[in-house]
Amino acid sequence: MQEDALQRIEGASDARALEALRIEYLGKQGSISALMKTLGKMSPEERQEQAPKIQSARTAVADAIAARKEAFEAEELERKLASETLDLTLPSPTAPRGSVHPVSQVMDELAEIFADLGFSVATGPEIEDDWHNFTALNMAETHPARAMHDTFYCSAEGANEALDTAANSAPNTPRMLLRTHTSPVQIRSMKEQGAPIRIIAPGRVYRSDSDATHTPMFHQIEGLVVDKGIHLGHLKWTLETFLKAFFERDDIVLRLRPSYFPFTEPSVEVDVGWQDVDGRKVLGGDGDAPGHGWMELLGSGMVNARVLEFAGLDPDEWQGFAFGVGVDRLAMLKYGMDDLRAFFDGDQRWLDHYGFSP
Ligand code: PHE
Repeated sequence: MQEDALQRIEGASDARALEALRIEYLGKQGSISALMKTLGKMSPEERQEQAPKIQSARTAVADAIAARKEAFEAEELERKLASETLDLTLPSPTAPRGSVHPVSQVMDELAEIFADLGFSVATGPEIEDDWHNFTALNMAETHPARAMHDTFYCSAEGANEALDTAANSAPNTPRMLLRTHTSPVQIRSMKEQGAPIRIIAPGRVYRSDSDATHTPMFHQIEGLVVDKGIHLGHLKWTLETFLKAFFERDDIVLRLRPSYFPFTEPSVEVDVGWQDVDGRKVLGGDGDAPGHGWMELLGSGMVNARVLEFAGLDPDEWQGFAFGVGVDRLAMLKYGMDDLRAFFDGDQRWLDHYGFSP
């Protein structure tokens, strides 16, 4: 019987057939179990003779079943491993990909260009107080830019909430607003870091204005350098160097025009020369040449002595220049976009077209 059993175990086709054999031989009603039961009825001599035989048959069958079972399990594992193989060289299914918004892209480009010139990036709150946005920038109570039609003021309730979170240590009035320019970061940076200082401050700004070239929220980048012996030449060189790097052209020509900002003295409006290329205005070249022209690009100037004082610096010791430029405008000029509003519509087709792969 043992021979027969071992052969059948060897021939079992799968784990189920094997289990059936186990029950047939070793189960409660199994044939080997039945043999074991006969031992009780035997004479002691007979039992002494039979017991080891039955015992060894039982062990042999149990061992064979265990071995076969292990073999089946190993086979099963092999099969699983084979069928669940991952081919890491297969191309992945194409999932929709996001892209870097042109404004973010341009801000990154600018931060990189200015990093090469030794500028670090500074930030300030978008919910700003009246003092940093206007007063410390030498804009009197009566300055027209403070008028409601330009500036978004917070309600008294909102103002108190904002005050709690803005952590304003500076002398301020409780009047809170959405900053109208990035220039308040000049004040915050000078107060925090003192001089010398060399920063840019990119960020969102808000004005109550809306048409094809104006949106109520837009982006600016502020530049500020304060050191000893700083003069207009430093400003001009810095702007020229940054604009040539940004527009990737060596023939960028600037025109500096006298202007007025309360926080700079003298103040300089900067125009950049353009030329007509196949009916398109392309930056570069002398704007005074025939067929060329000038485009207004940014505001700048030497930091007003009053502003240095407001920020706690001695104007007899320190001089500085500052500039502010629209980031959206820079993006439009560099990448040939014509409607500012499209920047903030979130139209997937526009983003696919103008966005940058990360
Ligand atoms: N803050 C000015 C604006 O928003 C720009 C500017 C910045 C001008 C710094 C001079 C110096 O128009």
